[in-house]
Amino acid sequence: MVALLATPALAADEIHWTMIGPTAVSFDWRGTGRTLRYGLTKSYGLTATGGAPSILPFSSAGPFQEAKLTGLQAGATYHYSLDGGPDHTFHALPVPGTSFTVFAEGDIGSSLSYRAMAPIQARVADGRPSFVLAMGDLSYADYNGLACVDQHFNDVMTWSQDAAYMPIWGNHDWADGDTTDDLRDYKGRFDLPNPQTSPGSPSVSCCGEDWYWFDAGSVRFIAYPELFPGAWAAWKKSATTLMDQAQADPALRFIVTFGHRPAYSSGIHAGSPSLRAILDTLGAHHDKYVLNLNGHSHDYERTTPQFGVTHVTIGIGGSTLEPSLGGPCAWAGGCPPPAWSAFRAYHHGVLRLQFEAESIRGDVLCGPAATYDDVTCPEGTVLDQFTLNGHKLSSPPPSVLALGHVRPNPVEDSTFMLEYTLADAGEARLELLDVAGRSVHRIALNAGGAGRHEAQVSTTRGLRPGIYWLRLTQSGHEVRGRVVLLP
Ligand SMILES: [Fe+2]
Repeated sequence: MVALLATPALAADEIHWTMIGPTAVSFDWRGTGRTLRYGLTKSYGLTATGGAPSILPFSSAGPFQEAKLTGLQAGATYHYSLDGGPDHTFHALPVPGTSFTVFAEGDIGSSLSYRAMAPIQARVADGRPSFVLAMGDLSYADYNGLACVDQHFNDVMTWSQDAAYMPIWGNHDWADGDTTDDLRDYKGRFDLPNPQTSPGSPSVSCCGEDWYWFDAGSVRFIAYPELFPGAWAAWKKSATTLMDQAQADPALRFIVTFGHRPAYSSGIHAGSPSLRAILDTLGAHHDKYVLNLNGHSHDYERTTPQFGVTHVTIGIGGSTLEPSLGGPCAWAGGCPPPAWSAFRAYHHGVLRLQFEAESIRGDVLCGPAATYDDVTCPEGTVLDQFTLNGHKLSSPPPSVLALGHVRPNPVEDSTFMLEYTLADAGEARLELLDVAGRSVHRIALNAGGAGRHEAQVSTTRGLRPGIYWLRLTQSGHEVRGRVVLLP
């Protein structure tokens, strides 16, 4: 018997699309098939053909395809089939006045390296967003190898076939000081709306698509570039013009910025003072500017409004959480938190944003638990919630279990003040465990109810000096912190 072997056509993968205008989208994918059929119904009727993108990704042999679809009906949902594959849907930018859902995630990686990455992408897919903002550090191929780039774009296909993928670049994407990966692997895979060139951008991936902006519904979204020499000063001038226009345009209600690096952060990467000065100034002069989204620090943190702008660090999208290890405070920016920090936690997750005519509602949905968590948050439950009505911010008390600041720590005289957060009104118990994990002291916490509390804790005199664990237990969940007792 003779087996007949033929080279199979490479099925299309890494399929994703971006909104490049009110009536245009761009598709990017990998594969030999170049035909994209689309239309307002599943019978399609229209055809687009892929071609090589102007900047060619190099993470794998490809072939990489890009197809621009123009002349679409504004506000309409289209069906499509790529290379004879299953039916999916796409749409151009949401039209003014419409409500829409956005998911925002940062510091993501691929399932080859990070266990939390795929479950978080499944959470995004469940939410059926209009589009996803990715705050940079997309694949970590500079650390983990080029296969992670292709894997990232396959992992996100759980949502990127039906929701637009709107990214901005992080330091790992241009691999400062590393030659494994560079921005060709990202710029080459996206067509972006109103693409802009920054001074100082690496020449290997030159030019264009260092940042971009677009209007979705009644919101102007403005991305900001990576920290290239001169890039932020140039961006400030352009962003000022874009915000001035938005202020004067009655069809626009809100302005949102997004980028990789934080302006405010008490995590492992502090906020950049120069970025902070720029965003503070923009906030002070543009009252429609209410929200900035960033990553870089692998934690979650939300500020109180700063010059009208709430800053949210959402660097919890898959890559390893980065607490400050070694000392009693897990936050490089100190314990207790800086005055501007409204809520912060170490836990994987993703931010869901619901844009309405007069408000923006944010819910941080928890992903899987991980080693460095400092809160308990079952998968899919809400870690933090906030609503922006113009400049007015409201937020219910957090409904998570968490241990906060211990002071003083080290503890003298067997007495210390403890901040903690309860998830519900159930009974809560605090224990002191020795290093072997044995419970050596128990305290019933009477201060009930969900939200933040503070208590004076007295331990048994006569406990040996040394390191102990604090264990807070409520409703079957527990969270631990560390405390040092002095003689
Ligand atoms: Fe990162």
